[in-house]
Amino acid sequence: MSSKRVLVTGAAGMLGSELLRVVPAGFEAVGTDLRADAAVDVPGVDLAEPAAVDALFRARGPFAGVIHGAAYTAVDLAEEQEALAHRANADACRVLARLCARASIPLVVVSTDFVFDGAGTRPYREDDPVNPLSAYGRTKLAGERAALEEHPRGARIVRTQWLYGPRGKHFPGTIVRLAREKGALKVVHDQVGSPTTTLELAPALWDVLAKGEAGVYHAACEGQASWCDLARATCDLAGLAHVPITPCTTAEFPRPAKRPAYSVLDCSKLAKLRGRTLAPWKKALENWIAIDRP
Ligand SMILES: NC(=O)c1ccc[n+]([C@@H]2O[C@H](COP(=O)([O-])OP(=O)(O)OC[C@H]3O[C@@H](n4cnc5c(N)ncnc54)[C@H](OP(=O)(O)O)[C@@H]3O)[C@@H](O)[C@H]2O)c1
Repeated sequence: MSSKRVLVTGAAGMLGSELLRVVPAGFEAVGTDLRADAAVDVPGVDLAEPAAVDALFRARGPFAGVIHGAAYTAVDLAEEQEALAHRANADACRVLARLCARASIPLVVVSTDFVFDGAGTRPYREDDPVNPLSAYGRTKLAGERAALEEHPRGARIVRTQWLYGPRGKHFPGTIVRLAREKGALKVVHDQVGSPTTTLELAPALWDVLAKGEAGVYHAACEGQASWCDLARATCDLAGLAHVPITPCTTAEFPRPAKRPAYSVLDCSKLAKLRGRTLAPWKKALENWIAIDRP
């Protein structure tokens, strides 16, 4: 039997590259991104351009589904480039959702905890009220809504958070570098979420494509941590246990984009679909460190 061909967007990115590494049996992936990369079959496709995406579907399809990992992810820069971020995060979702609806195929859109304002006191459920605090969060929410509006029967929104993995620039990698360079660190302790590896998330996204239903899912590693907790655990596991880390407040570390103070996600809907949760965040961190040895 021939395998089902799936388009993976953002294939040169942190998550997209992992999605291509774990293609399940019975599927084959075509990767696309703005930039050329060893993993990218089709470079230079701007997903906000309907004609370019239509041409991609014609040239490399028919597709049995799409996993949309591409996005404008520069959270702070988005405060001054909201139109550009909206183009990549919302317009591209609409373009893809329209084509997926026309072909009657599922579309998995990766979204973010930044759709919430962080005022919650228990893990956020999929239907909790949204209220993004940042331009990035607003554009990602607009993308969720565009996808569900264009493709109500096939769009699956998967919100995740605090991502890191073998590829790309991310918090644990930066912490290891800074710990080595500076010998002492000050890290924010009043933002709480669930650090999540692409190693855990990518197989879950394939499962949502294969077995999920239209609607919203939350996907993050189990448990919760502050950035300071994550920095401490990363240094301890990376042989930097001697590096002192001092907790500080968000107010001491002002950034252009406002972040939710609390954004732990309730992932029980996804756990029910898969019959298991993603790994606890510390176990996932150990697994990443064993592979990447930062
Ligand atoms: N990183 C996190 O902590 C985090 C947390 C929650 C959710 N997410 C979501 O998870 C997904 C994957 O994130 P990531 O960190 O893996 O992102 P990433 O490494 O920045 O990769 C995203 C890729 O999308 C490409 N892209 C941007 N605009 C595009 C366009 N108009 N058309 C085609 N490709 C475009 C980017 O190209 P350029 O680099 O050339 O612009 C980049 O290669 C995103 O949807 C993101 O919003 C991430």
